[in-house]
Amino acid sequence: MEKYLWWRDGVIYQIYPRSFMDSNGDGLGDLQGILSRLDYLVELGIDAIWLSPIYPSPDADFGYDVTDHTAIDPRFGTLADFDQLVAETHRHGMHIILDMVMNHTSDQHAWFRESRSSRDNPKRDWYLWRDRPNNWEASFGGRAWEYDRTSAQYYYHMFLKEQPDLNWRNPQVRKAQLEVFRFWLERGVDGFRLDVFNMYFKDAAFRDNPRQFGLRGFNRQKHVYDCDQPEMLPLTQELRAMLDSYPERYAVGEIFLSPTGRAAEYIGDQKLHAAFSFDFTASELFFPWSPAWVRKQIERREALFAGERWPTTVFANHDLPRTASRYCRGEDDAQAKLAMTLLLTLRGTPFLYYGEEIGMRDVPLRREEIQDPPGKRYWPFYKGRDGCRAPMQWDGSEYAGFSTVKPWLRVHPDHFQRNLAAQRSNPDSLFNWTRKLIALRKEIPALRKGEFVSLASPSGTLVYQRRSAGQTVQVMLNFTRKPIQLQIEAGAEPEKWTPLLSTGFHENSRSWILKPNEIVVLLSTQPAPPVKASPQEKR
Ligand code: GLC
Repeated sequence: MEKYLWWRDGVIYQIYPRSFMDSNGDGLGDLQGILSRLDYLVELGIDAIWLSPIYPSPDADFGYDVTDHTAIDPRFGTLADFDQLVAETHRHGMHIILDMVMNHTSDQHAWFRESRSSRDNPKRDWYLWRDRPNNWEASFGGRAWEYDRTSAQYYYHMFLKEQPDLNWRNPQVRKAQLEVFRFWLERGVDGFRLDVFNMYFKDAAFRDNPRQFGLRGFNRQKHVYDCDQPEMLPLTQELRAMLDSYPERYAVGEIFLSPTGRAAEYIGDQKLHAAFSFDFTASELFFPWSPAWVRKQIERREALFAGERWPTTVFANHDLPRTASRYCRGEDDAQAKLAMTLLLTLRGTPFLYYGEEIGMRDVPLRREEIQDPPGKRYWPFYKGRDGCRAPMQWDGSEYAGFSTVKPWLRVHPDHFQRNLAAQRSNPDSLFNWTRKLIALRKEIPALRKGEFVSLASPSGTLVYQRRSAGQTVQVMLNFTRKPIQLQIEAGAEPEKWTPLLSTGFHENSRSWILKPNEIVVLLSTQPAPPVKASPQEKR
C-alpha cells in the first residue's frame, strides 16, 4: 500500500501562538506554552502544526507585519526555544509548518527603513515607489498608496500602510526571500503556509483596475492588476524545486480574493503542493448553511481538484468567524458536529483551527476591546477578527487554564462550561467526536484517499460515500431537527454495513431513520449499491 504522507493524509492544526498557551505569565501565548501542549495534540491525533507568525513584529497586523523573517519575537521565545519546538514536535511524531509573510514587511523592517531613507538608496527598488498613485485600493480600507514626505513619493501597500509591499521583480528581493525559506528548511521546518502568495507580483505598468459595483472602495474594483500576475507561476516552480531538494517538505498557499478555480491553477507536481480553497467558510448571512449548499461546494471542489491537484478542507482560521459562531444556535453543538464530520470525511487535507475541536465561539467584545485594525475602522458594520482569536479554553478556571494573569484578549465567558477538561470527560462532547473521527481517518484508507461519490437523498440530508478498492465508507448527515427516513436499496441491507460512528442510530430492514441532527458513518467491505433517496420524510 502507498505510504502515509503527512501533509496529504494527515490533519493539520493551526495554532495562533499568542492565544494557545502562556508559559511565562505575561498574558500572551508563547513557544514554551506550545511545547507544554504537544501531548494534547498527540491525544487529538494531529499530524502537523501550522504556527501563525512568530517573528518580531510591531503588531500593526498582529504578527503579519514582520520586521525580521529569520528571528523569533522575544515575547514568544528564542531561536533556541524554536529549535526545541521543532525537535520535540518531531519526537512526538508530528510535523511543523511556518507562516511565511512574504508579500510585504513591516514599515519598521530594516529593508523598508533603508528604502524610504532616500530615492537613491540601494534598497529603494525593494519596495514599490511611484510619483503618482493609480486607483488601487487597500484591502483594509483607503487608498493603497501612502505619501512619504522625506522622499516625496508614494509607496504601495495592499494591507495597512504599516505593511509596505515588496517588489518581487527585483532579483535581490527574490534572492533574499528564497534565502529566508532556506534558513527555516535548514532548521528542520517541514513546510510553509504562504500568506497571500497570489499578491506577490503586481502589474509592471501599474494600470488602473477596472471598476465594478461594490459597497466599499476595495470592492468597487476588479482586482485584475494587483494580484495573480503570470510571474507567480515560475516562482512557485522555483520554490517547489527548493522544497523538493529536502525530503517530504510542503507548501500551501493562501489565495487571497481570487476564486477557487484560480487556487487550483497554482498547484500540481511542479508547483505548490496545495492552496486553500475557502469553500466552506461563507457567512450564513449570504449562504445559508444547508445540505444543498454544502453539496454544491463539494461538487465544484471535486471537479477542480482532481488528478495531481490535492484539495484542502478549511472551515475556520484566524481571519474568519468561528464555525460554531456561523452555524450553531446558542451553545448547541449539533451543527458544529456536522461541520466537523465534513471536515474530517471529505477528500482533502483537513485544516483544524485551534479550539474548533471544543466548539469555541467568537468572543463577544465591546468596541473599546477591539484590537484588529479593520475592526476598528469598520465597526459596527464589521467587527474585525479578534472574535476568533481568543485564548484557548483549556479548563474552567478564571483564565481558562491559558494563563495565570489577564490575557491579551478577553477569554470567552462560556469557558466555565465549554472547555477541554469538561469535554474530555463527556463521551458525547464535540472533542470526543473530533478525536474519534481523526482516529477513523487514520485507520481507514477510504476516508483518506477514497473517491468521493455523492448520493441523492431527501431534502435536509446529505449522503455520500468515499470509495477505495475493497472499502466503502458511507456518511449520512441529517441537518434538520426532525427525523428523516432513508430507503435502503436491495443489496445494501444494514447487515452489510458496520457502523463506525453515530450520534445514536436506528435501522430496520428497509430504511435508515436518521434522528434529528444525526450523523452516521458506516463501513462496508463488500461491493454495495448505495442507499437511495426517499422522497417522503417521516415526521
Ligand atoms: C493574510 C492573513 C491575515 C493578514 C493578511 C495580511 O490574509 O491571513 O491575517 O492580515 O494576510 O498579511
